[in-house]
Amino acid sequence: MDISHPSLDPQVFRQVMGTYPTGVVLVTAMNNNEPIAMVVGTFNSVSIDPPLIGFLPMRSSKRFALIDDAEHFAVNILGSDQIELCNAVSRNDDPFGRFSWTPDENGAPVFDGVIGSISCAKYQTVDAGDHFFCMGAVTALSSRRTAPPLVFFQGEFGSYGRLRQMSEAEVISAVQTIQPLQPGLRELSTRLNSEVSIISRTDQEMVTVTAIASNGKDNPSLLGQRLPLIAPLGELFVAADKELKTRWLQNAKPEVREMLEQRLAQVAETGWSVSMTSEYRTEEVSPALQNFQLNPYTPQRYRELSEIIGRAQDYYTPADLNSAGTHSVAGITVPIMGNGVIHCVLRTSGFASDLTGQQIQDIAAQMLEFAQSSSFLLNL
Ligand SMILES: Cc1cc2nc3c(=O)[nH]c(=O)nc-3n(C[C@H](O)[C@H](O)[C@H](O)COP(=O)(O)O)c2cc1C
Repeated sequence: MDISHPSLDPQVFRQVMGTYPTGVVLVTAMNNNEPIAMVVGTFNSVSIDPPLIGFLPMRSSKRFALIDDAEHFAVNILGSDQIELCNAVSRNDDPFGRFSWTPDENGAPVFDGVIGSISCAKYQTVDAGDHFFCMGAVTALSSRRTAPPLVFFQGEFGSYGRLRQMSEAEVISAVQTIQPLQPGLRELSTRLNSEVSIISRTDQEMVTVTAIASNGKDNPSLLGQRLPLIAPLGELFVAADKELKTRWLQNAKPEVREMLEQRLAQVAETGWSVSMTSEYRTEEVSPALQNFQLNPYTPQRYRELSEIIGRAQDYYTPADLNSAGTHSVAGITVPIMGNGVIHCVLRTSGFASDLTGQQIQDIAAQMLEFAQSSSFLLNL
């Protein structure tokens, strides 16, 4: 086919195409019992019925010639922590000796630790300029782990990120800013016989920037803890920020939205908040939050966490603190204000016993007083 084309500067072509990010896969095959792999950024899903995938190898690629010789090939989808494997394949630096792999159902190699693998039978290879378009008929496929993918963009490897996380520099800066409060926080923790922490936030997450145990010592297990700003978490921040409130409520389950609005209204009126413990919170929410912090962020992990936290909304019904009886309190939070906005929040938790409504209100009053003097001390 003769296609007339404008005379393009290949450099410009590459530069513009490089602004479009791609994932990175390894296409592997067995040729005469020899494993072969090539790095491919042009992998794509082609058809669901029948299930077809494709990629664009260079005509000049020696490795593709060997792969094309085989009846089957496999697509190995790489995670962002697999750059070393990718480089070993790219440089032909003994990837099959240095990295573990197993043959798939067709005998094509699948490396350990890939995010997903797609086993294919050769379907059709067509001309595509100085490339071929090689299509495979999918014979089997599996998703192997939840991890951020390896991304190639403007000539460099990277990862995927949606959540705007507080950078290390921002965390360190927040930790330093509140240093002058340390002696007072230690005194407060022993006075209230509770854990005391200070939490900062970005648009999408909260980070514990100071944590003191009930004995007045540092509490490293809480320090640096990151929590997503998903309902019902972070209500004090949310109640004070219209934009955040809209997003937070939109993402909450519709059936609990009214309850959450009532809760936000209560928080806005009193200027502090209290949340109660529950079996669900200890057994489901806490481990899920812990797991979220230990593993890299992916949208699927975020959705799973939102779903688990979302189910805890039922436990956040506004408490009647005037009623008789005691409450099993998870945490009490008050804002530390600066220039009319919430600079960070002060939280007490880990109380030794259940508290009456009056005790909760007394603790909140002491915390509010501390928060007010903190604003002065920090020159906010
Ligand atoms: C991120 C990345 C993406 C690549 N994508 C492709 C691709 O889609 N098609 C291709 O032919 N080569 C691609 N390459 C280059 C091949 O991996 C390799 O250099 C090519 O197969 C030439 O080597 P060979 O002659 O040994 O096969 C890519 C390389 C990198 C690092």
